[in-house]
Amino acid sequence: MAIELAPLPLPSTADASKFTEFGREVKGVNPGELSPEQLEQVQMLLYKHDALLFRNVDLSPEQQYALTKAFDLASESYGHGNNKISKEAKSILHPHLKTIPRVPQVQLIGNGLAPAHEGLPPVELKHPSHTTFHKTPHTIDPGTTRFYRWHMDAALYELEPPRVTTLYSIRVPQGPHQRCLYDDGTGDELDVPLGTTAFVSGKTMFDILPPELKSVAVRAKARYAPHPYVWMATAHAMSTGLGLETEGLELPLEKLPEWNEEGVKIYPVTWKNPVTGNLHFQVHPCGVQELLIDPLPEGASRNGALYPDGASLKDLKEVRDLLYKMQRPAIAPSLVYPHDWREKDLMLFHNRGILHSVVGQFAPDQLRMFHQCNLAASDEPIGPSAEDVAAYA
Ligand SMILES: [Fe+2]
Repeated sequence: MAIELAPLPLPSTADASKFTEFGREVKGVNPGELSPEQLEQVQMLLYKHDALLFRNVDLSPEQQYALTKAFDLASESYGHGNNKISKEAKSILHPHLKTIPRVPQVQLIGNGLAPAHEGLPPVELKHPSHTTFHKTPHTIDPGTTRFYRWHMDAALYELEPPRVTTLYSIRVPQGPHQRCLYDDGTGDELDVPLGTTAFVSGKTMFDILPPELKSVAVRAKARYAPHPYVWMATAHAMSTGLGLETEGLELPLEKLPEWNEEGVKIYPVTWKNPVTGNLHFQVHPCGVQELLIDPLPEGASRNGALYPDGASLKDLKEVRDLLYKMQRPAIAPSLVYPHDWREKDLMLFHNRGILHSVVGQFAPDQLRMFHQCNLAASDEPIGPSAEDVAAYA
């Protein structure tokens, strides 16, 4: 059967004109048993559309791992390392991941008491909620929620960001929609299905910037903190989930687990899509410690340019304010795709091209079970080319 494509089921809140290329539902193939030709097609589609949805799929952990690995045959370990998660109890990710023993690259995530499953004993799962992470959680009203944390799936220390992530829903509790509040003074809010995963395009994030910020984006690199998830575990997030408040609560570097400079990651702020050549604004705002901005290239106009002679921003507030100014426009309600999960959905997404966030909170007895897989990549993401810099700087 040939591969068929359909648009993603966009909610009425989305500005369809901004989603013409983003996301497709893929029909007519079983993603667990793709022929080599189908796999090649799916790979091209993934980089072209950044998020692919397959519905009503039966997928074993082995098949999910194989599909994920097919995007990077030299990758092997889970995006945060196969053995590190359990050891690093201080990490903010620690309570949310249970490893499938047979296939340690696949994690069971969700909410509620999961029965014995794929070799795991019965286990209590906890859906991350903004109430434990944001500086000012709003009053607990079951009708409202927030974006927990906008991010890409990446260790951002020692290991390279996975090319793709696969998320497969096994149990999806039903319940009324919630209002996702931004609580940042804009009045923005978004109607979301209970426990949605929210996605935004990194390409759109770059495309909608004004020229002076595009110029900064193609010249900038982000330096991440060592062990960023341990570093940030004691800090609080902003009400939009798009970065941390600057309160001096990050764990001091000398209190982090042992680290070295070689493991620290410095990535360009924009990453080049290997198939389309488009630039995607790819920054995990919570983990960034410094921004390094190159001077304008020779011949570029200094008229209205920001940081024309380059800069090395080390002040956390300054770093975060600049990133927020560049990233906040792209999480506007009309630019968010909140996926309405059904059981047996598989979302395959371009982890180097989009950001996503957990949303919503469940009652303790609402059982949600998902399998998640991503693999630390065998290469670094590619930044803008000299031509890109010349075009946008
Ligand atoms: Fe994630």
